[in-house]
Amino acid sequence: MMAFMIIILLALLAGKEVGAANVSDTQNLLTDLSQDYNVNIRPAVDQLSPVNVSLQMYLKSIMEFDEVQGSISYTAGFLMIWEDYRLGWDPLRYGGLTKLTVPLKQIWFPELILVSPATDRTYLANTQSKARIWSGGEVEYLEGVMIESTCDVNVKYYPFDLQSCNTSFMALGYYQTEVYLMRRTESIDLTLYHGNSMWTLESTSVSVADISTGSEEQEVFFTFNLRRKPVYAVVTVLLPILFLGTLNAFVFLLIPESGERIGYSITTLLSIAVYMTIIMSTLPQSSDPTPLIFYKLLVDLAYSSLIIVAVILNMRLHAKDDDASMPKFFVSFYLALTCRGCGGKPVSPASHGFATDKNVLTLNEMKTKPDELDMPVNSVDAKKITWKKFSSLLDTIFFVLFIFYSFLSFAVFLGVLVGGA
Ligand SMILES: *[C@@H]1O[C@H](CO)[C@@H](O)[C@H](O)[C@H]1NC(C)=O
Ligand SMILES: *[C@@H]1O[C@H](CO)[C@@H](O)[C@H](O)[C@H]1NC(C)=O
Ligand SMILES: *[C@@H]1O[C@H](CO)[C@@H](O)[C@H](O)[C@H]1NC(C)=O
Repeated sequence: MMAFMIIILLALLAGKEVGAANVSDTQNLLTDLSQDYNVNIRPAVDQLSPVNVSLQMYLKSIMEFDEVQGSISYTAGFLMIWEDYRLGWDPLRYGGLTKLTVPLKQIWFPELILVSPATDRTYLANTQSKARIWSGGEVEYLEGVMIESTCDVNVKYYPFDLQSCNTSFMALGYYQTEVYLMRRTESIDLTLYHGNSMWTLESTSVSVADISTGSEEQEVFFTFNLRRKPVYAVVTVLLPILFLGTLNAFVFLLIPESGERIGYSITTLLSIAVYMTIIMSTLPQSSDPTPLIFYKLLVDLAYSSLIIVAVILNMRLHAKDDDASMPKFFVSFYLALTCRGCGGKPVSPASHGFATDKNVLTLNEMKTKPDELDMPVNSVDAKKITWKKFSSLLDTIFFVLFIFYSFLSFAVFLGVLVGGA
């Protein structure tokens, strides 16, 4: 009661000065505004023309981008501005009041709905909120919302992928000839945005389009272009793949007598398979397009299987009796690769400077086996080529080939990813 008296006293003291609005000014204004006001009537003077509603998004944060589910969730503030001529007034009549805050549910407002929700129906407006109205009749409504929207995911170039997420809103229940949606700016306002640890927001855009060509309804699109920060995936996925591939080739340096070769190569094969499973669970199961990393892993799996076959076959050669005969082709192959005839020049044992006991011995032996005389000149030490030597030569060749292949395929893969993204 005392407070009320004081207010009245103060108001009396304030007198008739313009710009000193008292409680009754606001009270009168509210009463006048709500008189005959029907929240269901669109605030257009000409009811055949649309109400323009302009939209602005203030992105606050991107909380999660889920590639597997194909959804993005973010928090943002949405500013909607429209004009309601019924809410205009003359400030001089109300002590100079030029703006007022009213409960949203007491005025007409455009109900905007998320077109592609990932969970529930999402409305931009909350009837518990308040809107600000200006004496000119403009209505300003700002709402903070958490949006969970679906998003088309394209992880073809994972982890150097660029995702483009469209979240759109439409005016529920109105044609564009009734509520005309407009964008305030061409991009999302990022003054409130603080970064995301997984994604870089490369660019944003806002556009308004018909839901389908010639459609009566409109959509406002807010598009985010997100680029993955690749360091995490490079360290946890790409480099281990390279290491596994390289490690795989080292089986050929393992001493055959150790008996560990098969175990070693199977283990590497399994590691690649496990990696494949892990990566599969972090990426969407999509055939359109399939992430290139799956192909790379598939090729690695094939490469690893090939290594196992090579190891097994080479072990058989290694285990052969040294006296077992060796096909001539193998012998020439061995000689060609061990450089006993570099550049294709026929080399006589003497010209190498190491033509000594070895060759003499061989020559002696050759006499006893005249059928080998039709072999090339440099195959004189053919007898010295044992299956073990041959097998270890193959080991060297395989090692070099597979190491080379491993780096090459990784480089090509990386090139395709970086080039395509
Ligand atoms: C408020 O101010 C008006 C004049 O501007 C005056 O007529 C009215 O009595 C005042 N009301 C109160 C409650 O002070
Ligand atoms: C709504 O926007 C359109 C296009 O910008 C404009 O031509 C029209 O005059 C606006 N209508 C109102 C009522 O402001
Ligand atoms: C998002 O919507 C706009 C407007 O229709 C369109 O131009 C763009 O291609 C869409 N982007 C995606 C990724 O769907």
